[in-house]
Amino acid sequence: MKTLVIGTGGREHALALALSRDPQVTEVHAAPGNPGIADVATLHDVDPMDGAAVAQLAVDLGIDLVVVGPEAPLVAGVADAVRAAGIAVFGPSGAAAQLEGSKAFAKQVMAAAEVPTALAHVCETAAEVAAALDAFGAPYVVKDDGLAAGKGVIVTNDRQEAIDHAAGCERVVIEEYLDGPEISLFAITDGVTVIPLLPAQDFKRAYDNDEGPNTGGMGAYTPLDWAPEDLVLDVCRRVLQPTVDEMARRGTPFAGLLYAGLAMTSRGMRVVEFNARFGDPETQAILALLETPLSALLYGAATGTLAEVGMPHWRSGAALTVVIASQGYPQSPRKGDRIEGLAAANAIEGVDVIHAGTALVDGELVTAGGRVLTVTAMGADLAEARARAYAGVAAITIEGSHARTDIALKAQQGTIEL
Ligand code: AMP
Ligand code: GLY
Repeated sequence: MKTLVIGTGGREHALALALSRDPQVTEVHAAPGNPGIADVATLHDVDPMDGAAVAQLAVDLGIDLVVVGPEAPLVAGVADAVRAAGIAVFGPSGAAAQLEGSKAFAKQVMAAAEVPTALAHVCETAAEVAAALDAFGAPYVVKDDGLAAGKGVIVTNDRQEAIDHAAGCERVVIEEYLDGPEISLFAITDGVTVIPLLPAQDFKRAYDNDEGPNTGGMGAYTPLDWAPEDLVLDVCRRVLQPTVDEMARRGTPFAGLLYAGLAMTSRGMRVVEFNARFGDPETQAILALLETPLSALLYGAATGTLAEVGMPHWRSGAALTVVIASQGYPQSPRKGDRIEGLAAANAIEGVDVIHAGTALVDGELVTAGGRVLTVTAMGADLAEARARAYAGVAAITIEGSHARTDIALKAQQGTIEL
């Protein structure tokens, strides 16, 4: 099978790497890719937001399966353009990607499907904002309705800060604060059949001890020893399947990856958000443990034949990924810093260094984004995976960069409380 991965980030590198190791895959192409993806795929200089250009590239290359990585092209309808050209594509239609593209839309679908989530008000005026903030009280949760690359949400006790954030958005969702640990559960679906992957935990705040601003994610690990035993079944039954069924009922079936961000609150499990694509960096950890050929799952979802693929097989042990972020991330990431030590990190047993925001400038590898690298490691258990990943982080030098030192630490210590 010939495959084409669309995107430039760590998630796309992890997907391309898994496809390159998949015995059913003969060719991996990527557009536009990054220097890490270039090690495992042939790169093509095509704008990932241009559906017609992506479809044409797939036709020219004789691609069997296109995988659209990020949310922006999905919301823009790039998967629709590829599908219209008669090529199998993993990724929802633009209409179905509204589950991620609009938080207000996601709330409507959840209400119709009776999916447990935070109570919320959609607000368009300052008066509505003030009323909603006072109805819920602190801590205030204010979300930009549209796509914002993980930076559209603030959680604060400062009422003025909440009002200021809302004033910067056209439409906001203000919702009830959810306490408790967060879990990411991804499902692959063809619009009818739902296949859950391993649950993972992401670390959204920039600094150790969950301090600092929200980011796109600073690290992740899987599986979750501390999660309730029936978690995956429960989320399938009460969240994923009803949502997929409701999308089909509306005439906009969701086929691709449905990402449920969940909070394990004192009053039970609640959906924090839906995304319409693989999470970054959770995907790096999850794919490290996937034993079933990735192409079989993605192709099954793309062609409505997922029921024939069956449940995936997983390696035993644990996987962990730690993000190395550039100086100033997330507020104002600096670009152009030299990256050193990759070969030493990659040489550590069980470690893959995944490129997220890198570029080659005059033959030298430099930073080109906020999240620069994600160091992914497998181990017999979480302690071994952590030790390997952090040995990889220590081997890499980027001036001014920062990485959290506590990814999966509480899980390893057994101190997460439900
Ligand atoms: P979202 O983009 O909706 O996932 O929000 C980003 C992050 O903000 C989440 O991962 C949570 O850490 C936090 N967050 C979002 N909604 C809530 C909520 N209702 N209560 C508490 N924290 C939240
Ligand atoms: N890791 C969070 C996200 O992909 O949205």
